[in-house]
Amino acid sequence: MFHDSFDGAILTGTIAPFDEHQNALAVADEVALQFDELDLQQAQLRFVFVAGVMISGGVVVLFHPVSFMAKRPDTIPLVQCGIIRQITQPQDPTVNSETLKTQFRQQAQGALSLNIAFIGVTGSLFTTLYHLQSATAPALAEAARLDAGYVIRWCDAAYAFGYLEAEGDTFNLTSMGEAMRPEASDSLMPMAVQSVLSAHMAERAAGLLHSGERPGEVVLAERATVLPWFGPMLEAGFGSMFENTICPAIPAFSEVDARGGLVLDLGCGNGWYLRVLARHYAHLRGLGLDGFAENVAQADARARTEGFAGRLHFEQGDIHDFTLQEPADLIAMNRALHHVWEHDRAGIFAWLHDNLKPGGYAVIWEPAWPTERSALRDPSRRALSFQNLSEHIQGNHLLQPGEIVAAFAEQGMQTQVYRFADDNEAVIVARR
Ligand SMILES: C[S@@+](CC[C@H](N)C(=O)[O-])C[C@H]1O[C@@H](n2cnc3c(N)ncnc32)[C@H](O)[C@@H]1O
Repeated sequence: MFHDSFDGAILTGTIAPFDEHQNALAVADEVALQFDELDLQQAQLRFVFVAGVMISGGVVVLFHPVSFMAKRPDTIPLVQCGIIRQITQPQDPTVNSETLKTQFRQQAQGALSLNIAFIGVTGSLFTTLYHLQSATAPALAEAARLDAGYVIRWCDAAYAFGYLEAEGDTFNLTSMGEAMRPEASDSLMPMAVQSVLSAHMAERAAGLLHSGERPGEVVLAERATVLPWFGPMLEAGFGSMFENTICPAIPAFSEVDARGGLVLDLGCGNGWYLRVLARHYAHLRGLGLDGFAENVAQADARARTEGFAGRLHFEQGDIHDFTLQEPADLIAMNRALHHVWEHDRAGIFAWLHDNLKPGGYAVIWEPAWPTERSALRDPSRRALSFQNLSEHIQGNHLLQPGEIVAAFAEQGMQTQVYRFADDNEAVIVARR
């Protein structure tokens, strides 16, 4: 009953637990504001919890897109509803077992919902159905060049979880299904990919608990369906924050652009950072280095598609043995410094210093590990604690901005720390 668009008035009239005289929009407003303070964007959530109603003993969680709220804070229609994920405070041990069971069943459903979305994302099923507008499962399978048996089962599951609507045997996307398309603006795709990557990491951590072995970066490449989505997931998760918030706040970029300078991106992923810079600054040149061939191939292809083949180049290689042909005007590392920190912190910082032109900048963007453990309880930081566990498998750990500042100071470099996303993201700019 929640798969279609509802506005507050319909909701008020339809759902019994809402007081008929209560304005559902006002209720939504109140709760949305409360949760807005938690910086849901940082938690990679695209939907804000706006209200919960008890129906047959279960809590139905209502969401609407963050982006929509930002554009039209005055009107908050409940455009999509469903049990996607329940945002709760950490468990109180005195809560009775039935309540706990209900809560955990809902959380399990949230995970299942994202797992089903992952299949639709990686199999291009959302995108294909979007172009077809409507199709039977076999017709969708044929258009997506996939096995009909699997697609028939997927359509049932995607229907059950509200990604598809059905008329007879013909399916079409709901607005939630449309939002899962990787091409959709503010796509929900990163959450689907992250959910399966997290499950993979949890399974690896469980298996490594006894031996203490830390296999390294290789664990990221162990799932053939996840690896190609690693770059797009990070791009969709952080690209707009960089473009709209971080880039304008850091004057080093326009300074380097004015002299047609070289920006080196170490651990560049699929190259989105350099593509954003190339779009905004007409003169700077970019070189990206990454250890995974898949990332470099995507970075190359995307730079070509966007017409930057002459200005942006990408190489596969290891940061620890890389030789730069000319000193750089700016060296960027986005979520990459923590990957090399444990292996050779002093060597990396000496390398950064020595490969920058005098007056050049190192721009380091890292998730900010909090100084107090209690900060991890904040819903916007819980995912960081899981990330740190999965970083441990890879031989890494997340860093406090102060540690990065101290490492630059050892090289005699002055730093400025910029904080974004409710202090969860830190950009440290150091000048040689
Ligand atoms: C979390 S990802 C960030 C990717 C990209 N900077 C972004 O923001 O989307 C870290 C990247 O660093 C790369 N990396 C880690 N250690 C590396 C090394 N020693 N040499 C080259 N690349 C490395 C990984 O392949 C991965 O693409």
